Amino acid sequence: MIDLHCHVLPGIDDGPRSLEEAVALAHAAARCGVAEIVATPHVSWRYDNDSAAIAAALAQLNAALARAEGSADERPRISQGAEIAATRISDLDERELSALSLGDGPWLLLEPPFTNAAPGLDGIVADLHRRGYRVLLAHPERCPAFHREPDLLRRLIDAGALASITAGALVGRFGATVLHYAESLVEAGLAHNVASDAHDLRSRPPGIAAELESAGLAPLAEWLTQAVPQAILSGAERIPPRPPVSLPSRARKRRWLTQGRK
Ligand SMILES: [Fe+2]
Repeated sequence: MIDLHCHVLPGIDDGPRSLEEAVALAHAAARCGVAEIVATPHVSWRYDNDSAAIAAALAQLNAALARAEGSADERPRISQGAEIAATRISDLDERELSALSLGDGPWLLLEPPFTNAAPGLDGIVADLHRRGYRVLLAHPERCPAFHREPDLLRRLIDAGALASITAGALVGRFGATVLHYAESLVEAGLAHNVASDAHDLRSRPPGIAAELESAGLAPLAEWLTQAVPQAILSGAERIPPRPPVSLPSRARKRRWLTQGRK
């Protein structure tokens, strides 16, 4: 699996506070079946990171992972990315945007605002597309503006954006409203990737596969966590289409989730 959204770098945002915590998070992700992590620290007004700071933290973590004990299976590959706040992105120049993209391609992980309205988001995405970038929207299921105006997300996706759902949202870790909206996005074909958005081992853990299994989405796991991320990282022209698998109804999934909690 490839995790396209993970706050694994030490001391740079609200992810791990130390190198030791970062190594533990990377090891935990590997034990969950993640072979490749894109490190996506916040680039926002609150976390004023730039590509040079991210590269330095990444080099530090990769060196620590190379020194750490354990089998090669416990060492995911970690590459550079960023989670860029929509409120910050217009402040970044072309060089910086290119350096903050995911892998070798034109994709940027864009964090929509956690507000009831997102005026200007259409314009920001359209402008990035015009300049040759592509937009992967981080956790739209947690963005109140999308809840209030469902057509907004559909418009962005029709314009070429993709949506990355947080694995924990699919098992209710962010509450019932977010869970139901995330489910509706999967049903409507408006979810293209599932990532961990991990920050730590406890409250924001690095799992993806178990959450997909619990949510009844195992038939889509390979597409969501391997095929689409691979295409994004390689800058492929075409994102592979969603496979025509049948998914369990929400009522059936709900029974699984309830049984799983017993
Ligand atoms: Fe994040």
